[in-house]
Amino acid sequence: MSFATSVDLHTDPTQFPGVDVYAVAGNPISHSKSPAIHQRFAEQSNQKIHYGRLQPALGEFKTAAQSFFATGGKGMNVTVPFKLDAQVLADVLTPRAQLAGAVNTLRIENGKIFGDNTDGAGLVRDLLAQGIQIQGSRVLLLGAGGASRGVLGPLLEQSPKELIIANRSHAKAEELVQLFSDLAHSLQVVLTTVTVNELEDASKTISPFDLIINATAAGLSDASPISDTAASNVFIPKSFAYDMVYGKITALMQQALHRGARVSDGLGMLVEQAADAFLIWRGAQLTDAIDSRAVLAELRHS
Ligand code: ATR
Repeated sequence: MSFATSVDLHTDPTQFPGVDVYAVAGNPISHSKSPAIHQRFAEQSNQKIHYGRLQPALGEFKTAAQSFFATGGKGMNVTVPFKLDAQVLADVLTPRAQLAGAVNTLRIENGKIFGDNTDGAGLVRDLLAQGIQIQGSRVLLLGAGGASRGVLGPLLEQSPKELIIANRSHAKAEELVQLFSDLAHSLQVVLTTVTVNELEDASKTISPFDLIINATAAGLSDASPISDTAASNVFIPKSFAYDMVYGKITALMQQALHRGARVSDGLGMLVEQAADAFLIWRGAQLTDAIDSRAVLAELRHS
């Protein structure tokens, strides 16, 4: 459920004198795990921070973010539906934020707001931590919206052999391929699209994939973006299915499990993108002081 009016969640930086204040902005935001994750990183590295939540009304992100930074806020994570607004707001973008077309991490320095995107790096680090080899593999990316675009660059940089994008609206998948074709070419990755119908057509001999990533919003409902017929063409026991949604076994994960494949939800990606944001704000020298996998394990058991 989204809320029409901005909600004050006690994240006004002036209320926390002497402490660096951070926040995650989204709508809705009440169930965000980001405050707990960042507080754990702060504890692990002996930092004192306050990390709160902000829930601007739709259309009011810019005002809320400007006021947060003007009153002393140091950094902000940005989630649905404001990642594009955050990109527009930023005075300076990192190349990866530019390529992603979205910003999930803002920081302020000398009055300028810098926008970065740690989502793709977070996904890649979670996959590698789970023992998934991306280099040389065949990857199927489901979805062609903001979530897909955000992770495409870092995925390509891992040099899979082939990365195929499938999306309900095929034209959007083709647009993404166009956008990333230079990068894919320079990395010698075959980047193409396939239609959802083609995934179902065994005569097209769609060969199974090593890694299937669900970046569609379908994971949020109880639907899978692919039919059972397509799932039979896509998954084999050595496949790994990753859903960016977290906290449940999604329909896509179930299809994969039925075919003997390994699965993961996106909780590790959430923790890893947060770790990168934390290091951007607090300094890369803390890399060894924080233990993102321990934080992930704690979240899984809480
Ligand atoms: P996000 O920023 O989260 O990626 P988005 O830009 O609205 O959000 O994109 C949502 C993605 O999920 C799109 O790829 C969308 O497919 P379309 O481009 O065809 O709309 C996909 N999607 C949403 N619901 C879906 C469903 N029920 N089945 C399959 N794909 C779905």
